[in-house]
Amino acid sequence: MKDQYGREINYARISVTDRCNLRCRYCMPECGVKKIPHAEILTLEEILRVGKIFSRLGIKKIRLTGGEPLLRKNLPTLIRELKNISGIEQVTLTTNGVLLKNFAPELIAAGLDGINLSLDTLDEKIFEQLTRRKFFKEIISGLEILLRENLAIKINCVPLRGVNDREILELATLAEKNFIKVRFIELMPIGCAINSGLRGIPTAEIFSELEKKFGELIPVHKKNSLQGPAKYFQPKNFIGEIGFIDALEHKFCGECNRIRLTAEGFLKTCLSFDNGLDVRNLLRSGVADEKILAEIRETIYRKPREHNFGCSTNFQMYQVGG
Ligand code: GTP
Ligand code: 5AD
Ligand code: SF4
Repeated sequence: MKDQYGREINYARISVTDRCNLRCRYCMPECGVKKIPHAEILTLEEILRVGKIFSRLGIKKIRLTGGEPLLRKNLPTLIRELKNISGIEQVTLTTNGVLLKNFAPELIAAGLDGINLSLDTLDEKIFEQLTRRKFFKEIISGLEILLRENLAIKINCVPLRGVNDREILELATLAEKNFIKVRFIELMPIGCAINSGLRGIPTAEIFSELEKKFGELIPVHKKNSLQGPAKYFQPKNFIGEIGFIDALEHKFCGECNRIRLTAEGFLKTCLSFDNGLDVRNLLRSGVADEKILAEIRETIYRKPREHNFGCSTNFQMYQVGG
């Protein structure tokens, strides 16, 4: 369906848990966060019910996120059933990779179309400082498994001044010999990122560092309407691509195609605004699908024109899944 500004909304990001096994400094406090009781998290059946309603409204792609989605039990079953919904063309996952080693085969067998792996550094010590956890080796083993599989892989890296800025070229090199996309994401001032003391690096700076090393970054045109906000480039001699997500430097809101469902079942129509719809309440109130569909349609229609990171949002990144 189209929203009030004529944008085609075809992509839903569904957070399946707000729990996480890492404590990335820009996302979560060291002490973790207050655990939401299980009863307040949507059940798999409820997620599927919403997935079916979403597909009737024109959603074609679902990305499962967290917290860390692999902490949710029976995720492969959810993937398989979401893939069975008519109209859902792609089901993908964004993960920190800690549990990939254990789950990769099952996820692939369930029909997962792609994995976005968060990996800010290739240095074990820096990893431990940034995420406050010792899971680097597990993640690298998970990545090695993925590189042998035939599915779309994207690496997400948030460049941080004085933290991983010396590793940008090394991270980009992963896309030189592998058929994957390595994306650099500008740090967004949301939740813990605001007072973490961490500073992001503007895309323009990363771009010119890469061009100096690899030569011209040739733009790759958008392949389909289900793609997210990253812009892709390919240096000569690269098999893979380099992507940039620069929400601050360039607002991509005019082309935004997405909605978000939090683990508690709140439908958020923009990352930086709190407006939306309590879908869980509707799901549990005994009303028919038609009523829920009508409310979701109305909420999507009213999606804000653009983000405003200057205003505060009460949602944290781990609650909305990015
Ligand atoms: P695909 O294109 O489907 O691979 O998705 P994606 O790049 O949007 O997914 P991913 O979960 O890997 O997110 C990467 C980064 O993009 C995260 O930091 C997200 O917070 C950010 N991001 C995703 N969607 C939006 C958006 O609509 N607005 C903003 N500002 N940032 C977004
Ligand atoms: N700004 C930009 N990206 C962020 N992520 C988490 N918090 C932020 C932030 N404040 C990224 C993670 C992960 C993805 C889901 O979101 O690094 O790759
Ligand atoms: Fe967990 Fe992702 Fe947040 Fe890191 S950024 S703490 S991996 S939810």
